[in-house]
Amino acid sequence: MISEETVRELIAAAGSAREFAYVPYSHFTVGAALLGSNGVIYTGCNVENASYGLSICAERNAVFHAVASGCRSFEALAIVSDGRGYTSPCGACRQVLEEFEIPYVILTAPDSPPRIVALSELLPLPFDRTAL
Ligand code: THU
Repeated sequence: MISEETVRELIAAAGSAREFAYVPYSHFTVGAALLGSNGVIYTGCNVENASYGLSICAERNAVFHAVASGCRSFEALAIVSDGRGYTSPCGACRQVLEEFEIPYVILTAPDSPPRIVALSELLPLPFDRTAL
């Protein structure tokens, strides 16, 4: 499992990344922080586009940031948004998290304790490389 200190660190990093969100359309800011097995934290924020479908979520940006930096093995991902409740990753992001077998996702909400959920809970019966 992940230590409380690591959980706090990841949430702080996701919160800082959220400040860079580019959200002229939804005005909904999201930050994500991904802990690599190498101990490095990789962050991402959502980046929107005038062609709405090209917008990308904070979670996928964090994963792609890590992979582009040479890391492919992970411990946990934290998500921070300005939503009123817990922000859970969208379906597309769950599939990308599955690809890299990110075991735990830390969900946060204002004035509530973080929730640590297993990816297998968020994406049961995944489509993965074993199906190919
Ligand atoms: N978004 C994320 O970045 N992560 C999530 O978990 C949920 C949604 C973004 C996509 C879009 O920029 C905005 O939030 C509103 O959907």
